[in-house]
Amino acid sequence: MHQVLIVGCGNIAGGFDADRSTSLPPLTHAGAFTRHGGFQLKACVEPDTERRAAYMRRWGVARGFDDMAAVAAAHPPGAFDVISLCSPTAAHSSQIDAALALRPKLIFCEKPVTPTVVQTEALVQRCAAAGVPLAVNHTRRWAPDVQRLADELKTGAWGSVRSAVGTYNKGVLNNGSHLVDLLHLLLGPMSLQFAGAALADHWPDDPTVPALLQTASGVPVHLNTAHAADCAVFELQIITATAVIVMEDGGLQWRVRRVIDSPHFRGYRVLDPGERIAGEYLQATGRAVANLHQHLTNGQALASTGDTALAAQRLCDEIRRKAI
Ligand SMILES: NC(=O)c1ccc[n+]([C@@H]2O[C@H](COP(=O)([O-])OP(=O)(O)OC[C@H]3O[C@@H](n4cnc5c(N)ncnc54)[C@H](O)[C@@H]3O)[C@@H](O)[C@H]2O)c1
Repeated sequence: MHQVLIVGCGNIAGGFDADRSTSLPPLTHAGAFTRHGGFQLKACVEPDTERRAAYMRRWGVARGFDDMAAVAAAHPPGAFDVISLCSPTAAHSSQIDAALALRPKLIFCEKPVTPTVVQTEALVQRCAAAGVPLAVNHTRRWAPDVQRLADELKTGAWGSVRSAVGTYNKGVLNNGSHLVDLLHLLLGPMSLQFAGAALADHWPDDPTVPALLQTASGVPVHLNTAHAADCAVFELQIITATAVIVMEDGGLQWRVRRVIDSPHFRGYRVLDPGERIAGEYLQATGRAVANLHQHLTNGQALASTGDTALAAQRLCDEIRRKAI
C-alpha cells in the first residue's frame, strides 16, 4: 500500500466526491486513491479545523495537521510515498519545497503548479534535482478517448490537420492552461501569432484572452473566449482532411462529422450529419491515479508531468503578457 498525504481538503481533494455515488467514477484525489485499492490516505493538511475533521471522517484519514511544518515534526522523511497538493495555487510553491523535504516517491500537484512561470520553472527543476517525479493534474491527458485521438492524429488516421478552435473561459492560466496543454498533446508544440483583448471574467489577476497560435507545421489554432458569468465552456474543434472532430462539454461529449460525397451536388465533398459519442472524461481521474500506481510499481511513464505543465504555462503566460 502506498501511503498518501493530502494537502488542502477542498473540492478537488475530495469535495466533489463527498456526496457522489460510489457507482460513478471518482473526480477527486481522495475519491480516486480510495477507489484504486493500492493507496492509503495516511494524513492530511488543512488549516480550517471543521473542514479538516469532516474530510478525515469522510475519507477515513487517520491524522490531520494545520500545516506542513506540523507534518514534518510528526513524520520522518520517507513516511509518505505520494504527496497530493490540492491547496490554493498560491500555496503550492512553498508546499512543494516542504513536500520534497519529506522525501516522497512522487508529488501529484494540482494545476496551475504555481501562479508564475519563474516559480514553476524553479519547482520543476528542484523536483528533478531531488529525483522526485512531479505529476500535474491536467486531467484530460488521462482520458482514454483523448489518448486515442492523440495517437490517431499522430499516425495520420484522420488525414492532415487543417486548423483547430478551442473555446474556454475563467482565466488563461487557470482554464486556458488545460486547453493549451490538451492542444500540445494533440497537435504538438505551438507558437503565439497574436493575442487579443483581455477579458476579466472571473479572476482579478488571470484574464481570459483570445489568441491565434500556430503549430510547428503551420496549422492555425484559434483560442476563442466565453464569459465565466454565463457558464463554464471548454470545447475544441479540430478540422482535418477527412472529418470535423468536436469535443464538447469539457470532454463529456464528442461529435464527429466525416467527409462524404454530397448526396445532392455531384462532384462536391461535404460533411455528413455526424454522430454524437459519449466522452470518457469521467474516467480520467481514476486513470490518473492508476498511472501513478503503475509509475511507482513498474516505472510506467507519467502522462502529465511538471515539464508538460511548464510548457503550457509558458505559452499561457506569453498570451497574457501580449494581450491588448
Ligand atoms: N485539475 C482540475 O481540473 C482542477 C479543478 C479544480 C481545482 N483545481 C486546482 O486545485 C487547487 C485547489 O482548488 P479547489 O477548487 O479544490 O479549492 P478549494 O478552495 O475548494 O480547496 C482548497 C482547500 O485548501 C485549504 N487551504 C488554504 N490554504 C492552505 C494551506 N496553506 N495549506 C493547506 N490547505 C490550505 C482551504 O482551506 C481549502 O479547504 C487549485 O490549485 C486549483 O486550481 C484543479
